[in-house]
Amino acid sequence: MSVSVDAAACTETIAPLPVLGRDVTVPLVTGGEVTYAALDYAASAPALQRVWDDVAAYAPYYGSVHRGAGYLSQLSTDLFENSRVAVAEFLDCREDDQVVFTRSTTDSLNLLAAALPADCQVFVFETEHHASLLPWRDARVTYLNAPRTPDEAVATLERALADRDPYGPALVCVTGASNVTGELWPVRELAAAAHAHGARIVLDAAQLAPHHPVSVRELDVDWVAFSGHKLYAPFGSGVLAGRFDWLSEAEPYLAGGGASRKVARRGDGGVDVEWHDSAARHEAGSPNVIGVYSIASACKALTEAGFDDLVARERFLIGKVRDGLAAVPEVKVLSLFGDDAPRVGVLSFVVEGWNSSHFAAALSAEYGIGVRDGLFCAHPLVRTLLGSDPQTQGECGAPEAAPGEKSLNAIRVSFGAGTPDEHVERFVTAVTELVRDGAQWKYRTEGGRCVPAV
Ligand SMILES: Cc1ncc(COP(=O)(O)O)c(C=O)c1O
Repeated sequence: MSVSVDAAACTETIAPLPVLGRDVTVPLVTGGEVTYAALDYAASAPALQRVWDDVAAYAPYYGSVHRGAGYLSQLSTDLFENSRVAVAEFLDCREDDQVVFTRSTTDSLNLLAAALPADCQVFVFETEHHASLLPWRDARVTYLNAPRTPDEAVATLERALADRDPYGPALVCVTGASNVTGELWPVRELAAAAHAHGARIVLDAAQLAPHHPVSVRELDVDWVAFSGHKLYAPFGSGVLAGRFDWLSEAEPYLAGGGASRKVARRGDGGVDVEWHDSAARHEAGSPNVIGVYSIASACKALTEAGFDDLVARERFLIGKVRDGLAAVPEVKVLSLFGDDAPRVGVLSFVVEGWNSSHFAAALSAEYGIGVRDGLFCAHPLVRTLLGSDPQTQGECGAPEAAPGEKSLNAIRVSFGAGTPDEHVERFVTAVTELVRDGAQWKYRTEGGRCVPAV
């Protein structure tokens, strides 16, 4: 899954892709205001300006999709269906693949889980986000231990698949880029291993698609899932794209209008239903045309900006953050595959002597920087990385990670298209100053989180 990037191109000369919110100012507890540094892209990225402009241009023409006879309904239906084509192109889908619009990655993976054939075995690494870890509970799930190298990941999967019932259906679920460490997973190799053992594979691309090109054909994955709100299109839609045979045989995810082709009363008083055998089968109800269109718009904007440039710029920013954090001995960056493993713009770390919630609160209140602290909906992974029993709550001001002790949760900084140099530079300065001088303000615990005392 390598992306070719000219190292010499990794300079700030590549301009950030414009996003909304770049001029928003926030108050500091210490006085004054600063522009907000949004460094929590891994949770939800800001909207691309282009996405916002496209949605605004379409909004007056908004109409009901698939049902209306009016001009705007037809226009909206075209827009909706063309968005499917744009997403399929973005993902380099195979001809027979279908793009199903969902609400999010979580929704997409739950849809696939509901469509598994009987007796399907599922293989999933314990390191996954809960959205990939949990939907398979009704299936025969094998949870694989955290590997410490990409090669070990492939070997672990190979071993597990070699032991499986060779005749039944099987599915492997894997993330493309970790939402905790940002590290890239060897998707193509895992797909080859899955297929060699007659299993299928679904790629959780929630963190990968916003940062790297994803080619279904090249990676040879059976499905890809991602969310609009992490792909600069925060209007409530997501995607499950890929093979349709399991989905076309499954009961509709939601029963209702749009999913049904024909409904008739039976002689015995019941109802007979003929379901669609296209993506519409799993898209019952009135679709979120704005959400879907915004994803298509983001796909086009990212493609036009060029992933080579986007990746090069992000590597430049990752380098700045890594170098800055490396200069602070109290900071430990979390990694499964080793410090030099390729990653997207997502890094988690702990600070010796600091409660992570306290640290994140001080970054926000004193520097106007928005990061995330906690366990990032990946509890088993964070437990492995910290070597401790993670907890979301800690008493503010009472450092949970005194020197020599293990942290109970972590801080995550994440960025991408639209992040200016100044945001990551401010972040590095803030970390350095907080560790050196301590917080300037007092904080208290409220609902298990640190907040400024006043
Ligand atoms: C790797 C990964 N998978 C799945 C999800 C779930 O995404 P959503 O909350 O949009 O459903 C996330 C969200 O953080 C994620 O990082």
